[in-house]
Amino acid sequence: MLKKLMIVLMTVNFNFAFAENCSFDVYATDQMSYNTKEIVIPSTCKSFTINFTNNGKMPKSAMGHNMIIAKKDDIKKIISDGLKSGITKNYIKPNDERIIAHTKLLGPGEKSSFSLTVDKIKNGDYVAFCSFPAHEARMNIKLSVK
Ligand code: CO
Repeated sequence: MLKKLMIVLMTVNFNFAFAENCSFDVYATDQMSYNTKEIVIPSTCKSFTINFTNNGKMPKSAMGHNMIIAKKDDIKKIISDGLKSGITKNYIKPNDERIIAHTKLLGPGEKSSFSLTVDKIKNGDYVAFCSFPAHEARMNIKLSVK
């Protein structure tokens, strides 16, 4: 009986050790912010999942948030193209090749998850940002692989 219990406990610990670091929960607020300025991705992860929630209460049209993963140098053009596409397209140009992952524009209480291939972002200067008009200055997260 005790032996069985120990095996169960060891299995739980084993799974936890491998799963704990390859995902991250991040949320956005009505104060036009994410709750972090940096996400550190362990280089041992092959794939890294970001679970994004809009914790705000304001309507999407006034304070919606998305999360776009792209190179730092491409932010300005992605935002200006997104602005032209408008809110119905989530302020994202459809099929924008500079974007490696993104969520849709989330309203209050909405959630969205996506996964990144760690090899792909290891050698670039990647960020996560919100393309809602005028949000990026405050809503910009540095991604680093360590
Ligand atoms: Co935003």
